[in-house]
Amino acid sequence: MGFDKNKLIEEAQIAMKAAYAPYSGYFVGAALLTAGGKIYRGCNIENSTYTPTNCAERTAFFKAVSEGERDFTAIAIVGGPGGVIKDFAPPCGVCRQVMEEFCDVKSFKVLLFNGADTKEFALEELLPLSFGKSDLGK
Ligand code: THU
Repeated sequence: MGFDKNKLIEEAQIAMKAAYAPYSGYFVGAALLTAGGKIYRGCNIENSTYTPTNCAERTAFFKAVSEGERDFTAIAIVGGPGGVIKDFAPPCGVCRQVMEEFCDVKSFKVLLFNGADTKEFALEELLPLSFGKSDLGK
């Protein structure tokens, strides 16, 4: 795939700096690349009542979709306690399902970075046998 993976990972690290995570202390940043080459950053945004918390990945998607974007290439995700990246920060199940709504599961790529190594997955590897719009005849 012809996109700059290092740049996307750098953008995710910048995004993580804005994380609002006073309850878990776990900071997450995501950078979502559109087919047109734009990058939307997202961070996790927590809430004192917990339930309204929004993950970094969904923040990035909702920013992009609300700006009219519908065609996505890849997302990079980083995270860690206190914003220190030591391990991979895999997307939660809800975020994987949101990706499924807007992305081709075979071609959309998820990049994870642990501070040293990068892992790359096709969405279908992270969400096998997914339920999507085709199951509703859409
Ligand atoms: N979090 C994300 O931002 N993305 C994920 O996919 C996993 C979890 C956030 C939510 C919450 O603010 C914190 O990490 C701990 O769960």
